[in-house]
Amino acid sequence: MTATTPIPALLPTYAPYPFPLVKGQGDRVFDDAGGAWWDFYGGHCVCATGHSHPAVVKAVADQAASLLFYSAAAALPVRDLAAERITAFSGMDSVFFCNSGAEANENALKLALLLTGRKRLAAFDGGWHGRTLLALSVTDDPKITQPYADHLVPTLRLPFGDLAALAAADFSDIAGIILEPIQSMAGIKTATRPWFEALRAKCDASGTLLIFDEIQTGMGRLGVPFAAQFYGVRPDFMTSAKGLASGVPMGALLMTTQVAAKLKGGDLGSTFGGGPLACAALIATVDAITGEGMMANAAKAAARLRQELAGSVVSEVLGEGLLLGLRSAHAAALKKHLLACHILVGGSGDATVLRLMPPLNLSSEALSALITAIQSFVPEQP
Ligand SMILES: Cc1ncc(COP(=O)(O)O)c(C=O)c1O
Repeated sequence: MTATTPIPALLPTYAPYPFPLVKGQGDRVFDDAGGAWWDFYGGHCVCATGHSHPAVVKAVADQAASLLFYSAAAALPVRDLAAERITAFSGMDSVFFCNSGAEANENALKLALLLTGRKRLAAFDGGWHGRTLLALSVTDDPKITQPYADHLVPTLRLPFGDLAALAAADFSDIAGIILEPIQSMAGIKTATRPWFEALRAKCDASGTLLIFDEIQTGMGRLGVPFAAQFYGVRPDFMTSAKGLASGVPMGALLMTTQVAAKLKGGDLGSTFGGGPLACAALIATVDAITGEGMMANAAKAAARLRQELAGSVVSEVLGEGLLLGLRSAHAAALKKHLLACHILVGGSGDATVLRLMPPLNLSSEALSALITAIQSFVPEQP
């Protein structure tokens, strides 16, 4: 924006699709002209149970009609139930509810500094954790971090998944280390189970708190509840947001009993965090994911894509469950082609990787549409 261009009422953030959306149902969204689009972008990896899942809509509507809001100044049965559901589902012990992914990460990092008394953090090349100041400190995206360079906490950065670099690193003054167990924005990068085990062991040996940012990898997306179960490693803190309440804004900072026991009342707080609407949506979300076989569906969809895209313009399917990357030398043109076929997918920090993060109850019809569209794509010869 310059002084000569009019400043819009709604400030620009992302470049939007060239059509406004007015409706969503399951794995499709609809534009204002009635056009239907297969949503492999999942509303920014948020709509885990599909758009406007009837049980989530009903839970939110019923809750709104009975008690739309009360803060943590009052005990609410719906909040207690939401805490039970998400701790049981995640395998963690206690939860603090907030409102977004950045807020969950900010609190995890803040507590790591508080509980260890150390002044440095650690994170990984390509990691993306949000736009608040501690979250920016650990995010590897210079265009959004550089303007705030003077305000960021010193952070040791390591190559993701590299055992030798991990072994060589000095964690003795590191308060907490944060990672996306599968790096999404970086281009769906994965690491091995032995690397996760080595990371856990290194944190144990050095007193560094291990933080899994499961804002994209959680809520059943990998075919299991969270990446912690997928890789068999339990972090000290786990953060969740995006699909947590199917699109009702909510963040969660989950932790072990050992960490929770060191906190006192007042260390954490939020006016809207754990509000009844979000809690009702969370309960309905977990119930839908577990009760409707969505995790098995995610794993099955990934297997079908891997099988049916072999030999296509997609040279490799990266990731797990329904957090996938399609590697193609023609990624940008393929994304345009898919849009022309009414299929929404995401880009990534890797120009050769397109991201898929659709609803977990993705239909076989949607998968067929994607596979057919990819198979019909003819790249232009240079
Ligand atoms: C892995 C990861 N962490 C943190 C965030 C920040 O979440 P929010 O936008 O809800 O603050 C995002 C958002 O895209 C994310 O993908």
